[in-house]
Amino acid sequence: MSDPFGPIRVTVTGAAGNIGYAALFRIAAGAMLGRERSVDLRLLEVPQAVDAAEGTAMELADGAFPLLRNITVTDSLETAFDGCDVALLIGAMPRKQGMHRSDLLAANAEIFTAQGRAIGEHADENVRVLVVGNPANTNAAIARAAAPDIRGDNFHAMMRLDHNRAIGQLSSRTGVSADKIARVTVWGNHSNTQVPDVDHAFIEGVPARERIQDDAWLDGEFASTVANRGAEIIKARGASSAASAANAAIDHVRNWVLGTPADDWVTIARPSHGEYGVPEGLVFGMPARSRDGDWHVVSDLERSERVLRLTEATIADLEGERDAVRALGITI
Ligand code: NAD
Ligand code: LMR
Repeated sequence: MSDPFGPIRVTVTGAAGNIGYAALFRIAAGAMLGRERSVDLRLLEVPQAVDAAEGTAMELADGAFPLLRNITVTDSLETAFDGCDVALLIGAMPRKQGMHRSDLLAANAEIFTAQGRAIGEHADENVRVLVVGNPANTNAAIARAAAPDIRGDNFHAMMRLDHNRAIGQLSSRTGVSADKIARVTVWGNHSNTQVPDVDHAFIEGVPARERIQDDAWLDGEFASTVANRGAEIIKARGASSAASAANAAIDHVRNWVLGTPADDWVTIARPSHGEYGVPEGLVFGMPARSRDGDWHVVSDLERSERVLRLTEATIADLEGERDAVRALGITI
């Protein structure tokens, strides 16, 4: 297939991991950037997982994807991010038994500082960065701080999985298909302090609360199921969500590049500009629309007392992570 614009350079870190494996074949097939744009894939791994990533690259070649122009497997940050247009930062240090939260933050601060710096030095100046590796919001803030010459708004953390989970729960409850559920928001951190909010949502064109007629369920079981879904999946699968996380990353970047539907919005987490009183710089889940390749936060929603109160808690959660990173001597 000819592509007059040339391939889009997509870097995937943690490429040999579960999410990487679930994402790469769909990216090669055009699910993320559209079926007209060719891709040049850069698979970054730690040295001990490069062989496994080579295996994935062999399988990608065996897929004979018409849009796939090139595959590079590397443990070099410079090679991985050279000219990069889209970066999916998936690889991160997992929490190990007995590890303190501060140890996890320190290990990830090192990874995301190095990757942010490499992005600043080698990527395209308009690179779009989506951080998936946990703690995703704070890792995105760290990468952003390490790349001061790249527009801060281009560093996002993935909250789309939380957004999609909320839609999935509403769909299961009502029997209405996901495409007829709009204007859901998940505020805050990708942690169990997040605030799923359906106060402005519509189900088949009817306000969600009117359609469901069960505020106790919406404010209770629904919100808690969405916020704790990651942990429930780890319990059930024995591993964290992978295909749904890959799907959400693909959804996020596809909307970033190709736009969101006219009458809807989705949840993104990018550095706050102070919208809704969120301290500047916190990478915070908010409703946003994408037009012409850029996101615009929907900044004029009324929030209930309940949402306001819960939002304070998710802000405090993120401030706690930020302060722990600052205590390591890292400026974010
Ligand atoms: P995984 O353990 O299967 O794979 C992670 C891969 O990253 C491994 O292959 C590892 O070698 C690699 N890696 C580690 N450090 C790296 C580095 N510095 N550079 C390059 N590669 C590196 O894990 P997974 O299931 O793919 O999950 C990846 C991350 O995504 C985890 O942090 C997980 O908690 C997170 N996650 C986030 C969300 C979300 O919604 N934001 C959802 C699910 C999982
Ligand atoms: C998820 O939401 O599925 C993951 O972030 C959970 C995790 O801790 O890896």
